[in-house]
Amino acid sequence: ENLRKPFVAGNWKMNGNLALVAEFNQKLADVNASAEVVVCAPSLFLHAFDKDSFSVGTQNVSHLDNGAHTGELSVDMLKEAGCKYAIVGHSERREDQGESSELVALKAKKCVAAGVTPIICVGESLEIREADNVESFVGEQLDALINAMSVEELSKTVIAYEPIWAIGTGKTASPEQAQEVHEFIRGYFFKVDSQLAQGLRIVYGGSVKPDNAKTLFAQNDVDGGLIGGASLKAEDFISICQAAN
Ligand code: G3P
Repeated sequence: ENLRKPFVAGNWKMNGNLALVAEFNQKLADVNASAEVVVCAPSLFLHAFDKDSFSVGTQNVSHLDNGAHTGELSVDMLKEAGCKYAIVGHSERREDQGESSELVALKAKKCVAAGVTPIICVGESLEIREADNVESFVGEQLDALINAMSVEELSKTVIAYEPIWAIGTGKTASPEQAQEVHEFIRGYFFKVDSQLAQGLRIVYGGSVKPDNAKTLFAQNDVDGGLIGGASLKAEDFISICQAAN
């Protein structure tokens, strides 16, 4: 039996403002979902969210401690702003900021040490999928985590599978395509520790919308979603949260 609590997080990316925060505070006040609901907004807005009926997270965090690191935000600062989750290793940061899997693993480790749950993103480009290299590519991304973190640390993370070709493109992975990779990821962790693998939440991201969320979330190894575009509209986001149970 699957005892994993469903998990749905919105990733606002570099969008939104305080008016949208206020709207979410109002509309999500009594969001009735069995899933854990998280909004990952730009860090500047985190303090302004009501955090009673849902949690908030950041979209990035430094792997370093407080100190001379201009422009960075530490996990301690984010925690003080009320942040319980942190997206790490999103493909947009791997691409725009050149973040390596090793750096992503350090960030995830830092979060876990501070009691912040990292939502660790992995996923392949279209080129890699077409060359039939999904498993070796995603496997390498997972290896970096497994090499840097203990079983105990890994058990305090959420993994997000986000195929790059499905992000912001309106091209969702089919439920079968998602399930195939989620099963691969869970199997990969199974080789490390069976309990870890059984308890680990693996969520899907890439053009999840109110009308496709239910069939995606119904797959055995899909424990929820990481939602981009559709997380910017409170009604759509709520209906996606309710599709996970
Ligand atoms: O992190 C979520 C994201 O990358 C998916 O974005 O807009 O395709 O739902 P979107």
